[in-house]
This record gives sequence, structure tokens and C-alpha cells, in this order.
Amino acid sequence: MPYLWTKLFHVLFVIAWMATVFYLPRILVNLAEAGADPAVRERLALMGRRLYRFGHVMFGIALVLGLTLWMHFGMKGGWVHAKLTLVLLLLAHFIFTGRWIKRAAAGATLPSPTALRWFNEVPLVLAIPVLWLVYFKPF
Ligand code: HEM
Repeated sequence: MPYLWTKLFHVLFVIAWMATVFYLPRILVNLAEAGADPAVRERLALMGRRLYRFGHVMFGIALVLGLTLWMHFGMKGGWVHAKLTLVLLLLAHFIFTGRWIKRAAAGATLPSPTALRWFNEVPLVLAIPVLWLVYFKPF
């Protein structure tokens, strides 16, 4: 696939994955606020599990296309390494959130909604430097 098409699809799958990265913690906040109503909890947990699975597929494709851009099109520079490190942190946040949703569905208690709202902001704090590295390529 030519360079620009590879980049176009990389960005498309990144958008789809980031949608899940931003929304999964919102489901966690809703679970923490759902109280004891089993029907609401079950519905939220189901939404969370489906979104988590979808996110894995989107991440996998974005990763393959990103690695293709890097290796196949001979991109050089430390910025890719720095970007990958931040992407790994984003992935860790995503996996942590997914596991929390599964644990909450099994009856585990969650942190307070306020604490989870702060946790919710972490992907934004990570995404800004990722985009800065891609566009500024500072090193
Ligand atoms: C999964 C591992 C990833 C790898 C190996 C990777 C690698 C790359 C590479 C090598 C490029 C080409 C840069 C260029 O042509 O100038 C690129 C483009 C891009 N990446 Fe990634 N990337 C990954 C994940 C992400 C994530 C998670 C985001 C956003 C949060 C992202 C956002 C972008 C954007 C917006 C571009 C297009 C830049 C432009 O418009 O020229 N990537 N990626």
C-alpha cells in the first residue's frame, strides 16, 4: 500500500481506537454511579466488554499500519520511540480500564466517581504529546 494510503488508514484506526480509549473510562464512571441496580450494572458491563473487545481490534490494525509506516517507509528519528512509549502507556490505561470493568461486573467495589473522573483525563494528557511528537518530530 502506498505511503499516504497507509497513513490515512493508520489515522482512521487510531481514531477508532482512541474513541474507545476515551469512552471506556466513562462507562466505568457510570458503573460507579449505578448503585446496586443489577439491570443497569449488567447493561453497562456488557457495553464496556463489547467496547473493550472492539478497541483491541482497532488497536491491532492501527499498530500494524503504524509499524509499516515506521519500518517500511524508512522513518528515522527518536520521536517514534518516544511516541511508542507513550502509546504503550495509553494501551496500559486501556487494559487497566477494561479489567476494572470486568472486576466491577463480578461485584468488586470501584473507586469513587470523582477519582474515576481524574483517571478519565489520563488519555488526554498522553494523547497531546503523542500528537506533538508526530507533527513536530523534535528529535
Ligand atoms: C500503535 C503504534 C503506533 C506506531 C508504531 C505509529 C507510527 C507512526 C508513524 C511512523 C507515522 C508516520 C509519520 C509521518 O509520516 O510523518 C504515524 C503517523 C501518525 N500517527 Fe501513529 N503510530 C502509532 C500509534 C498512534 C496513536 C495511538 C496515535 C494517536 C493518539 C497516532 C497518531 C498518528 C497521526 C495523527 C499520524 C499522522 C501524522 C500526519 O498527519 O502526518 N499514532 N504513526
